[in-house]
Amino acid sequence: MIKNDIIILGIESSCDDTSAAILKNEAILSNEIAGQKVHEAYGGVVPELASRAHQQNILPVVDTAIKNAKINISDIDAIAFTRGPGLLGSLIVGTSFAKSLALGLNIPMMEVNHMHGHVLAHFIDDEGKDKPRFPFICLTVSGGHTQIVLVNDYLDMEVVGTTKDDAAGEAFDKSGKLLGLPYPGGPLIDKHAKLGNPKAFQFTAPNMPDFDYSFSGLKTNVLQFLQRNTKNDKDFVQNNIDDICASLQATIVEILFDKLIQATRHFNINEVAIAGGVSANSGIRKRLQQEGEKRGWKTHIPKFEYCTDNAAMIAITGRYHYLNKNFAQQDISPSARLKI
Ligand code: KG4
Ligand code: ZN
Repeated sequence: MIKNDIIILGIESSCDDTSAAILKNEAILSNEIAGQKVHEAYGGVVPELASRAHQQNILPVVDTAIKNAKINISDIDAIAFTRGPGLLGSLIVGTSFAKSLALGLNIPMMEVNHMHGHVLAHFIDDEGKDKPRFPFICLTVSGGHTQIVLVNDYLDMEVVGTTKDDAAGEAFDKSGKLLGLPYPGGPLIDKHAKLGNPKAFQFTAPNMPDFDYSFSGLKTNVLQFLQRNTKNDKDFVQNNIDDICASLQATIVEILFDKLIQATRHFNINEVAIAGGVSANSGIRKRLQQEGEKRGWKTHIPKFEYCTDNAAMIAITGRYHYLNKNFAQQDISPSARLKI
């Protein structure tokens, strides 16, 4: 009997979310995510605590993914896991688990670059939605990365612009911390921004060459702005939180789109996608839509659940490695700084 369907188990553990997904061809049957509340008290991810939580979560998460997909473990054809980039201790948990399970089931495994995963999330079946056509440009914005990626083919991508310091997600989260918001500040700034005036306050945008970014200056800018304004008004943040968030978000969106637009012009590409956790931001989504209408871009926005870290995107990337027979060996080890 020839088996046409390919079933892949995806495993993601690069940061603070333990996730497992089952992919059948290009359709997701299940995508389970166990978040880690333990970091909230520290205002950022604590690597040591993250790896311990992955160790606790990984088996129940994989088990639930298999159950919710309504398949048997023996139906899995191959396992895709995140090799990097990410926190080493976290990556070791997912990699070791994938290696052991692949060995136990006697099936192949594929190593996946987490950043490929964010981009290729666009190829997961989503009813009524067109998938990007090559070549396209993808703005990948997450807690750890800010990249303009020229995507020539599924596994042929080039980073043409990147941040030289903080990532866009860090700009959101570090500003959130200064505003007294719990971690991660990104989604909360987005929430407040919806109620505020984006022109209420001015923040400065950096001057960077080519398609590169810098966000560390913005953080200093926010700090000085708050010191100046809270000097004589202790309730300044509380009374202006919506306007501050709206203005801050507008500045970050402007910085991101300035370089994105330049890159699409330079490479003469009008197929444009966004990816990564920060692409869940409503301001970024709205701006992409507006620029698309204005410039005749065909735009691609991932489904909400495939924006932040998830194993579905690792499984779909693993599928293209599987089709290329690009399998990992048992002596593979994770790489915290894996490049695209
Ligand atoms: O891709 P992701 O889940 O993890 C990394 O690989 O880093 O991205 C997490 C980042 C965090 O910085 C979080 O604040 C940000 O995505 N984020 C948002 C929103 N939702 C998540 N930032 C702004 N607006 C949002 N709605
Ligand atoms: Zn990510």
